Amino acid sequence: MRSGSDFINRFNYLIETSQVGAHTRRLTERYDRMIAQNIDIIQGKRVLDLASHDGRWGLAAKYAGAVQVVGIEGRKHLVKNSISNAKRAGYSDTMTWIHGDIVKVMQKLEPGSFDTVFLFGVFYHVTNHLEILREIARLRPTNLILDTEVFTQCSEEEERVVLWVENSRADACAIHRSDKQIKKRIGELQQLGIQVELIKSFNDHEKLSNSDIGRINAGMPSMAALQKMLLNAFTGESKITMIDWTGSKERDYGRTNGFYGIGQRFTMVVSIPLTTRAHSEGP
Ligand SMILES: C[S@@+](CC[C@H](N)C(=O)[O-])C[C@H]1O[C@@H](n2cnc3c(N)ncnc32)[C@H](O)[C@@H]1O
Repeated sequence: MRSGSDFINRFNYLIETSQVGAHTRRLTERYDRMIAQNIDIIQGKRVLDLASHDGRWGLAAKYAGAVQVVGIEGRKHLVKNSISNAKRAGYSDTMTWIHGDIVKVMQKLEPGSFDTVFLFGVFYHVTNHLEILREIARLRPTNLILDTEVFTQCSEEEERVVLWVENSRADACAIHRSDKQIKKRIGELQQLGIQVELIKSFNDHEKLSNSDIGRINAGMPSMAALQKMLLNAFTGESKITMIDWTGSKERDYGRTNGFYGIGQRFTMVVSIPLTTRAHSEGP
């Protein structure tokens, strides 16, 4: 089976087409955990890659044997990079890159068009986590692979979402300047019994005043809140399997410890049973 080292040797130009986590070791480890360990739900499958960035995980899926890949990315220059990366790889025929917001583009896609959905590295740059998961459920894939950092400054059982104002200019950040529907989203989370905490910025943890609520554009759930949202979107029969990141040597952005290694970032596979998929199709 192809490994992360094979992947990075084959596509070494991915180090140059992104400024975000484009380090050899990081990409190698992520390939091994997110792609190689899930080969059975990628090889021969139709893959939808949400927040596809420069096409890195779409290319990885093709390299692992996916038959077709569609990527959705909100930054135009990254879509351009994805197109040229796919061309350079000789994969253009089976890859499609769409510029736009994840939810808005998914709303135009047909249920049953994808077997496996990738949702990697974006669940801390959005506030509409539930909306995204519900839209994925409507598409009725067989599996979702979700890779994200979670909020860990609370107890393990605590269902909490922190929301803040993020610089929306950097490639690694939120796309939208603010979320006009934030009050509705907060209400929905609270209805599910999830606590919501508003903070000025993620780093200083200073509380955000209510008058600043309109500037919120990013958020992150705790693991317990994320699991609640997953079960809400896909119903209780879905199965969540955690990928083992023990022994990770990845050092995210030069930090002493990578988020995977210290249990702040996780990769999980959500297997969605047919009943759930039929249910989410609606009346
Ligand atoms: C940290 S990068 C993750 C890239 C890649 N998925 C990975 O895990 O390596 C986040 C990406 O999400 C994109 N993004 C953020 N919000 C988005 C949205 N609402 N719709 C589409 N793309 C979005 C950003 O432009 C950026 O490319």
